[in-house]
Amino acid sequence: MPSDESFVAVTCTAPVNIAVIKYWGKRDEELILPLNSSLSVTLHQDQLRTTTTAAISRDFLEDRIWLNGQEEDVEQPRLQACLREIRRLARKCGSTGDEDQHLLTPGPSDRVHVASVNNFPTAAGLASSAAGFACLAYTLARIYGVEGDLSEVARRGSGSACRSLYGGFVEWQMGQRADGRDSVAWQVASESHWPQLRVLILVVSAERKPTGSTVGMQTSVQTSDLLKFRAEALVPARMAEMARCIQERDFPGFAKLTMQDSNQFHATCLDTFPPISYLNDTSQRIMQLVHRFNAHHGQTKVAYTFDAGPNAVIFTLEDTMAEFVAVVRHVFPPEANGDKFLKGLPVTPVPVSDDLKATLAMEPVPRGVQYIIATQVGPGPQVLDDPDVHLLGQDGLPKPRPAA
Ligand code: DP6
Repeated sequence: MPSDESFVAVTCTAPVNIAVIKYWGKRDEELILPLNSSLSVTLHQDQLRTTTTAAISRDFLEDRIWLNGQEEDVEQPRLQACLREIRRLARKCGSTGDEDQHLLTPGPSDRVHVASVNNFPTAAGLASSAAGFACLAYTLARIYGVEGDLSEVARRGSGSACRSLYGGFVEWQMGQRADGRDSVAWQVASESHWPQLRVLILVVSAERKPTGSTVGMQTSVQTSDLLKFRAEALVPARMAEMARCIQERDFPGFAKLTMQDSNQFHATCLDTFPPISYLNDTSQRIMQLVHRFNAHHGQTKVAYTFDAGPNAVIFTLEDTMAEFVAVVRHVFPPEANGDKFLKGLPVTPVPVSDDLKATLAMEPVPRGVQYIIATQVGPGPQVLDDPDVHLLGQDGLPKPRPAA
């Protein structure tokens, strides 16, 4: 990346992913190696993304990082692991840096400044660490001239982050090796494979989760026999079945297995001792709503999945999205001024039939769902070419952010 100045910057974006076969439990805490393989859907960056700028200058004396405008401790072990890993790969790729006084080609020993922002609430339980570490790995790779798979770099930040390195449908294969070199993500199908698939994020609570994933899964590994059984005896067949459903665009099969795997993950949380529960009453009501909606139609038209928090992620097809959004509005009526209830893709309002209301038989719970983000399957990380988008100025400090 030659420049005629002693400052270079690269800005990239990366997506959020949502697992349909869940990762829960590590066999190696240091290298972040999972107990089982997992499979996810990459969400579109038009709605949810992390943007990261990495900059290198001869004037920088130390690595520094800012998240959403706040400077963070660069010594955090996971951040350090990512930086070490990318520099190791940069050395392997033969990048040595440019000795010329005027031309700067970053080398592994150059200090880096990083600034990262999310276009969604960091603590809303929307897998911000996955998008964040994928974006960090991807942006650092561009600035240090590292080519090839970056699973290892992203994974060292947060396990699920390696799945955000690709668009479409992504498998993180657990691998067998003790050094983790074969614990990598790869694309099962591209973002254009299933254009009818739609995703609705039902934000139930934007509060930070009481038990973070890292600590939660440690306790599960130590105490849950069900988790061990799931990882060894159940997940391998589920991975194969999920890949088949995706390849064949078998929505009922995909939807059923997605719900079953979410439920099994939450069952392992309850089997953990002391038990962990991430779902609240609204999450339970959403599950009930989905099952009654499907029963009304006599087929599986909608699926839910929940990560380590109460927010629901709903999968459906294009032709069902408007009706399901209408049903969510019916069961969880928004504020009187409900025009901010639906964000993201436009959805034409439709009425809910009396027949459907009768099958649902659910008392409305006002504001149970705070808002919905409508999105779809999307591509992997992108480089932004326009220098105006850099989050860091030439002085290496975050540029003032426009008011939200
Ligand atoms: C429930 O990737 O956040 O979202 O590797 O400790 O950073 P660490 O955990 P993390 O765990 C994600 C767990 C999950 C399921 C999934 O995304 O597969």
